Amino acid sequence: MDKLLIEGGKPLEGSIRISGAKNSVLPILASALLADSPVTIHNVPHLNDVTTMMNLLGSMGAELTLGDKMSIEIDPTTLKDCIAPYELVKTMRASILVLGPLLARFGYAEVSLPGGCAIGSRPVNLHIEGLRAMGAEIDVENGYIKASCKRLKGARILMETVTVTGTENLMMAAALAEGVSVLENAAREPEVVDLAKMLIKMGAHIEGAGTDTITIEGVEKLKGTQFRVSADRIETGTFLVAGAISRGKITVKDADPESLEAVLNKLEQAGVDLNVGKDWIEVDMRNKRPKAIDLKTAPYPAFPTDMQAQFCVLNSVAEGAGAITETVFENRFMHAQELQRMGADIHVEGNTAFIKGIDHLNGAPVMATDLRASASLILAGLVAVGETNVHRIYHIDRGYERIEEKLAQLGARIQRLPD
Ligand code: EPU
Repeated sequence: MDKLLIEGGKPLEGSIRISGAKNSVLPILASALLADSPVTIHNVPHLNDVTTMMNLLGSMGAELTLGDKMSIEIDPTTLKDCIAPYELVKTMRASILVLGPLLARFGYAEVSLPGGCAIGSRPVNLHIEGLRAMGAEIDVENGYIKASCKRLKGARILMETVTVTGTENLMMAAALAEGVSVLENAAREPEVVDLAKMLIKMGAHIEGAGTDTITIEGVEKLKGTQFRVSADRIETGTFLVAGAISRGKITVKDADPESLEAVLNKLEQAGVDLNVGKDWIEVDMRNKRPKAIDLKTAPYPAFPTDMQAQFCVLNSVAEGAGAITETVFENRFMHAQELQRMGADIHVEGNTAFIKGIDHLNGAPVMATDLRASASLILAGLVAVGETNVHRIYHIDRGYERIEEKLAQLGARIQRLPD
């Protein structure tokens, strides 16, 4: 396994290109299962989670062809098995996204039940209840969700909690169900909208994606199409924080500023000078120190939980003190203890991290147990005095495309080394 060695203290300067969104491409790849001819996805980021999803589709018999320019063609017509085995699901919870498409298209699915996770218990009861409401017979036995149905039937489904992949699974299932489905309290995340656009291009009838009520009129068939994945808003936000805390000036290109309103508002509150174009954002913090801010995570359009850890680092080196409250996952402050080891003044009480900004962090060996926490430790390393070794970086490779190369392009002193 590799580690990242970072020598902190260099203001970042220059520009980088934002990759396609991890949390869009995963459901979009799964949605290929619904088609009756090949689909081609463009702007696919090079990530371990994408490889896992490709292995999963391939293990079921789909034929995958890598094109040039970050595209993948998936031919679902060769599918033989409708099984998502434990070995793959344990490495990526988003594997659950094949459940709805398999059931809707083939009438059968066996998907390993995802276990607990470093950031919270993350049950999938709402996925299962929604599919049952559409007429699926589902048993959970021997660690597997075993589901079967004739043709799914449209249903009105009120999800008691806003769930992103739950909304996506049910939207994909409903696209081929008989009759109309209405998903209430649906997730409004841009990734849900991206998936809806893909399904509509395949021939689905969907209205309301991006609002809390999505109406889907099932069709008998969906066809292959071409689709370009939108920019990753969390990668964008992570680089913006890097630019801000390093007191540099950077531009992110091929981004989608509209999907980042809550994050940009918080950066502005922190005193960050922002310049925003149609598909680019510039951060200018030369010789300025950010101000600590208060924030609370919640489903879109509120502040994303996937940016919480990065803002903990911003507060750690900011002027003043701020409180960061996590409301989406129950255990998402694993980075706090690692940041404390770098000297941060963080005190977690319940679901709130109280952080007092200090003059500088100190380099240290650190590691994290989830993706965004690992990203936050890299950010901390960039501004710490001395060397930081970030271990267990396989988490980073799941969700950030060549993060060290992009940071190096901005002038950071960062290297990937064998651990
Ligand atoms: N929940 C339930 N029952 C369910 C489903 C969810 O109680 O059946 C609860 C969860 O336990 C959690 C809350 O609902 O407390 C929200 O979870 P959600 O289902 O929305 O999360 P997810 O769909 O599993 C996606 C992203 C996550 C992101 C969350 C929240 C993908 C592949 N993953 O997860 O991304 O944090 O939405 O926005 O889209 C990441 O990229 O680092 C990441 C963890």
